[in-house]
Amino acid sequence: MVEEKITQCMKPHGEEGIQAIENMNENHKPISEFAFESINVGENDEILDIGCGGGVNIEKFLKLTANNVDGLDYSEVSLSQSVKRNKKAVEDGRCRVIKANVIKMPIEDGMYDLVSAFETIYFWQDIENAFKEVSRIIKTNGQFMIAQGTDGNHPDDKKWLSTVEGMKVYTADELKRYLLNAGFSSVSCFKKENDYIMVVIAKK
Ligand SMILES: C[S@@+](CC[C@H](N)C(=O)[O-])C[C@H]1O[C@@H](n2cnc3c(N)ncnc32)[C@H](O)[C@@H]1O
Repeated sequence: MVEEKITQCMKPHGEEGIQAIENMNENHKPISEFAFESINVGENDEILDIGCGGGVNIEKFLKLTANNVDGLDYSEVSLSQSVKRNKKAVEDGRCRVIKANVIKMPIEDGMYDLVSAFETIYFWQDIENAFKEVSRIIKTNGQFMIAQGTDGNHPDDKKWLSTVEGMKVYTADELKRYLLNAGFSSVSCFKKENDYIMVVIAKK
């Protein structure tokens, strides 16, 4: 049961994937809210949300920038739910959805002012090279924001990690080290008071 739930979070698929996405849209609200309080979004920022799931964060970014907001995910179900939620922006050409694995994205160098990753890096393999790939597609002085429900010390972490092979959780120090190694110039960490929610923002 727990394994199926996390497998769906890792890569939503089938009918159950749609239900999993609806649950995530609701359950990840506090993480998303804290992330949007922590980040400065420029009014003309070009933005990519990696691991976009149901597209709720694409929808929020579209209200903050006049520019394009794209979504990337390797799950067909996530992409179709993102399109459904952001239909008008997709039709207007303000939102493209891209099917890809973060480790090799079909995106030119230096495309985005801001790249985000909400509740997804746990599932990225080869994290340092994935961060290098993210850095590649960000403009100089652009930002990469990671938002997650654990700071690496959540009491439930052990349960999740023992259930799903390949899943990892990171502390702020570990993320800082990987991001700096991947070429980002500075890293800031924000933790929600009396909670485990953590947002890490790396500047290129
Ligand atoms: C737990 S869901 C989070 C969805 C959404 N960001 C949210 O906060 O509700 C993780 C999403 O990341 C995607 N994902 C995981 N690993 C990925 C990878 N290596 N490349 C692209 N997408 C990935 C999954 O398909 C899934 O849609």
